[in-house]
Formats: sequence, C-alpha cells, structure tokens
Amino acid sequence: MIRFEHVTKRYADGTTAVDDLSFEVAAGELITLVGPSGCGKTTTMKMVNRLIEPTGGRILLDGEDIAAADPVELRRRIGYVIQQVGLFPHKTVLDNTATVPHLLGRPRKQARARAAELLDLVGLDPSVYGDRYPDQLSGGQRQRVGVARALAADPPVLLMDEPFGAVDPVVREHLQNEFLRLQSTLHKTVLFVTHDIEEAVRLGDRIAVYGAGRIEQLDTPATVLGAPATPYTAEFVGADRGLKRLSVTPVEAADLEEPPVVRADDPADRAAARLAADDAPWAVVLDADDAPYGWVPAAALTGTAGEPAPKDATVRTHAHRMDAWLPLGAPLRQALSTMLQHDAGWIAVRDGDRHLGVLTPARLHSALRRATTADAAGTPRGEVALETVPAAGTVPGT
Ligand SMILES: Nc1ncnc2c1ncn2[C@@H]1O[C@H](COP(=O)(O)OP(=O)(O)OP(=O)(O)O)[C@@H](O)[C@H]1O
Ligand SMILES: [Mg+2]
Repeated sequence: MIRFEHVTKRYADGTTAVDDLSFEVAAGELITLVGPSGCGKTTTMKMVNRLIEPTGGRILLDGEDIAAADPVELRRRIGYVIQQVGLFPHKTVLDNTATVPHLLGRPRKQARARAAELLDLVGLDPSVYGDRYPDQLSGGQRQRVGVARALAADPPVLLMDEPFGAVDPVVREHLQNEFLRLQSTLHKTVLFVTHDIEEAVRLGDRIAVYGAGRIEQLDTPATVLGAPATPYTAEFVGADRGLKRLSVTPVEAADLEEPPVVRADDPADRAAARLAADDAPWAVVLDADDAPYGWVPAAALTGTAGEPAPKDATVRTHAHRMDAWLPLGAPLRQALSTMLQHDAGWIAVRDGDRHLGVLTPARLHSALRRATTADAAGTPRGEVALETVPAAGTVPGT
C-alpha cells in the first residue's frame, strides 16, 4: 500500500534526517515508528503526504509514485494527526472535525452530521462536546478530536504523529484501547509515530525501530522484543523486554496442559478412581454449569491426605477454590498476573463457555519461545532458559 524505495531526506544544512529508507506498509497494516527524538520519524511521515519532499528515492502509494500525484488530491486519501494536535482554537469541536470534509466540497450540514458521527466514534458525545472550543477540553479529549478529524474524509491511509503524546499514562492507555477498537473495524493503513516503546508494542502489527535516520529493525512486536536484531535495538527496547513480550504473546490452545476434569458434585470415590486411572496428581474442578470451581489433589479424594473421605462425600468437599480463568487469546502477561494474584501454579483457560485446559508457568515459558519466530531460525536469544521450572502438573497451587 505504501512503499518506500531508498528514500533519503537531506536538508540544506547537511542534516540527513532519513537515510536510504526502504520498507512497505501493507493495506490495513499498522506500523509503529519508534525511536529517540530527532531520528527522522516525523520526516518519514511528512514525506508520505508531501509536506516534505525527499531528496532521493521514491514513495509509492497503491503502486503510484506520489511525486507525480497532485498534493491536494493525495492528502484527501491520507488522514493526518499532527504531533501537537493542532486544532483551530477559534472553531468549535464540531467545526474542527468537519473542516476537511467541508473543504473537500461536502455541504456544511452534511459535513457536520458526519463530524458528529466521528466524535461519537472516538467516544466524545457530540451533544456535550460539539459546541465547545478546544481550550475547553482536556488534553486527552483534544487528542480524540484530532483523531476524529483525521478520519473525517474516510481516508484509507492514516499518518499519526504521537497522537496520544500529551496525556498521562492512564488516559493514554484508554485512548490506545479505543484506537485499537476502531482500527479492528476500520482497517486503515497506518503509520503511527511514537517514542514510547510500550505504545509501539501495544499498537503495532509491526514495529520499525529507528536509529539515526535508519530503520534498525522492522518486525512483529514479539520478534523485536524476543530477538532484537542489533545491540542498539536491544538497548532501545529495554532490559525488561522479556517482560514486555508477555504483553504481546497470546495464550493458544497448543500451550495448554490438560489435567483431568471432574465436577464439583461428582462422588469423591468416582473422581478418585478417575485420577488413579490417569495417574494424575490433581484434577481441575468445574461446576455443574461448566464454570471453573477450583482444583482437587488426588490424595484428598482417596483420604490419604488427612481426614478420611466420608462415603457420601463429593469432590466439592475436598476441592480448593480457584475460580479465576482466562479467555483463549489473552496475553500471557494477564495469565502470569492472574497466577501471581491468586498465588496459583496454574490458570484455567476457556474458549467462550468451554474449558480448554490450564496454563502453567512451564507452559507459559514454552509459549514465549514459540512466539519468537526468530527462535525457530536459530537466532541466539541471549537469554537464560528457565529450565529449572518444575514439570507442569506437579504443582497445582497452594
Ligand atoms: N527544516 C529542517 N532543516 C534542517 N534539519 C531539520 C529540519 N527539519 C528537521 N530537521 C532535522 O532532521 C532530523 C529529524 O527530524 P524529525 O522531525 O524527523 O525527528 P523525529 O524523529 O520526529 O523527532 P521527535 O521525536 O523529536 O519528534 C532532526 O535532526 C532535525 O533536527
Ligand atoms: Mg517528530
């Protein structure tokens, strides 16, 4: 969709802002450009809508060299959220949002109706905020108006230059979530600039890590974090990149252990026989309606772990509560966090209403390895493997 071919930007004073850049953004893909201040992110972006002309190479949009395009026509296809939001201070929120469609020749009334829809889309009630002026909004609200305005002409391409830069981390996370939700339905082709690696990792289908004027690595978040291509990238993504990987790696069905499942209302002796047949030290316990109830050790069911089981006892009598669970596809970070919070050595994973299996620390570790594609190619990870994690299935909880 957007293709950079050996693109260079050298300013008159000799500064090389962008140096021989080649990469491609697929249709519907969101690439985050991340790197320190002055490394050429904004310059890269502004060359796409021709606010800056490259001094070498070319940029293709949908296969067409943009140098040959009419800049005004080009910008119709490209929404742009600039680094400092840049709302018109003397126009209301609604008029700010309606500006582009109106400029593009839509009747004012129609443009304003569309603007109201877009404000709604970014979570601002137009009847509350539409008539306010930008200085009557919080920073986060202003940034949402910036996003709504960029979407107003429904362009296939979005350039977003630190759109959530000026807000506190809580609001920022909220804006990021909303933006991800929007993107999952709009499927815009997006270049998103940030200098925050956390943001880059959360939002990007792929991340381009910039050094001075160059891309040091362009790959999926899991690979950039799991197998940084250069020492520069490793340092930029941070010493805690192993932890960050937890956020970008989802739990998959293949990661799960499948200890036996018994029902809370099953007779204890029948459950005990079931575990003995499987030679299983413990079982997952579900309610009658399949909701997670907890776990039960084999020893408790057979009465060998203390008080003998009464004849009419059910599994429930001996089970330990552990009703936390995760949906399939949840990030490993959430899995680990839940295990720590419940002081448990496993967490149940469900697909909708269906119990699938359990994730253990050992399986979590192998899931992390699985997620780094470069691992398969034999790239040294430079990490200590956690071979000492006890075999799964032996340590159900506390
Ligand atoms: N008009 C100009 N003339 C000379 N040098 C310029 C000009 N505009 C930008 N630069 C330089 O080009 C380099 C890249 O600037 P750019 O704005 O692309 O950085 P950036 O990665 O967006 O940084 P930040 O994170 O601070 O926004 C910087 O060294 C900057 O000083
Ligand atoms: Mg910039």
